[in-house]
Amino acid sequence: MNQLSILALSGLLVVGNTTITDTNKTHTPKGANLEKILQAFKHKGSHVKKEFPGILICIEGIDGSGKSTLAQELKKELQKEHVVTLTKEPGGTPFGQRIRSITQNKDIPLSQKAEYLLFAADRAHHIDTVVRPALQKGNIVISDRMIDSSVAYQGYGRRTSIEPINAINKWTLGDVWPKITLFVDVPLDVAIERITKRADKKTRYETEKKEFMQRVRDGFYAIYKTRDDVYTIDGTQEIHDVVKDALTVIKKHGF
Ligand code: ADP
Ligand code: TYD
Repeated sequence: MNQLSILALSGLLVVGNTTITDTNKTHTPKGANLEKILQAFKHKGSHVKKEFPGILICIEGIDGSGKSTLAQELKKELQKEHVVTLTKEPGGTPFGQRIRSITQNKDIPLSQKAEYLLFAADRAHHIDTVVRPALQKGNIVISDRMIDSSVAYQGYGRRTSIEPINAINKWTLGDVWPKITLFVDVPLDVAIERITKRADKKTRYETEKKEFMQRVRDGFYAIYKTRDDVYTIDGTQEIHDVVKDALTVIKKHGF
């Protein structure tokens, strides 16, 4: 991180002490110029999207929609002809695993901004140490969640201010950008039923009220309204058909 970035980050945290509640409006507090700070993030290392030899595919959706299942199945299929890196956020690196153990643990109280910044730290490290190197080698990188999860969960779910989330997200990605985003969509009740059946301990988000998850799903819909790299897959289908739909999209891109 260079000096400008450190200044910008610490500046953002100072701004973070004041109340910025409205997700549509940014209130610039006295003594701090939020515009300038966000500009610094926007310009730093961004967003000249590079054409890497490899491609990045992100899988997004609410908890229990079937993302991890799809990611694993896609890896099995695609590795017949390509080198595939299957990874995830949070927790795609040893450092990220430590962060994940905090973000998933509902017994550790987390302020909204701290929660987002943990996901951002996980992402920054993940992009620099796993995703970009794999793309440079020409791999197909499949990531189970990425930036859109922060906008949907922290932005729409928690109602954390979206402008800094978007700016920091761009900054963590730098020249990397998903070529294809697969949005695995299921109604809330289907997701809840699947999560309930899953025997493991419930995470922070899986114990949230239904309204939270509804806001997250609505958030995905809102951010995907204007994106042309996003393909919605009907996650209520049999696994075989979910995978088939995803492969059709990927093959359309020449892979
Ligand atoms: P996510 O990663 O989105 O939380 P998972 O892939 O872990 O979701 O799936 C949640 C549960 O639902 C798992 O028990 C999985 O076996 C099951 N599942 C996944 N996809 C389907 C599907 N298309 N139909 C029925 N069950 C599914
Ligand atoms: P994950 O194992 O991906 O959830 P699931 O398999 O149940 O879909 O767990 C990650 C959790 O972290 C998930 O509940 C969503 C949340 N999350 C955020 O809130 N923000 C983020 O930026 C990311 C990447 C994940």
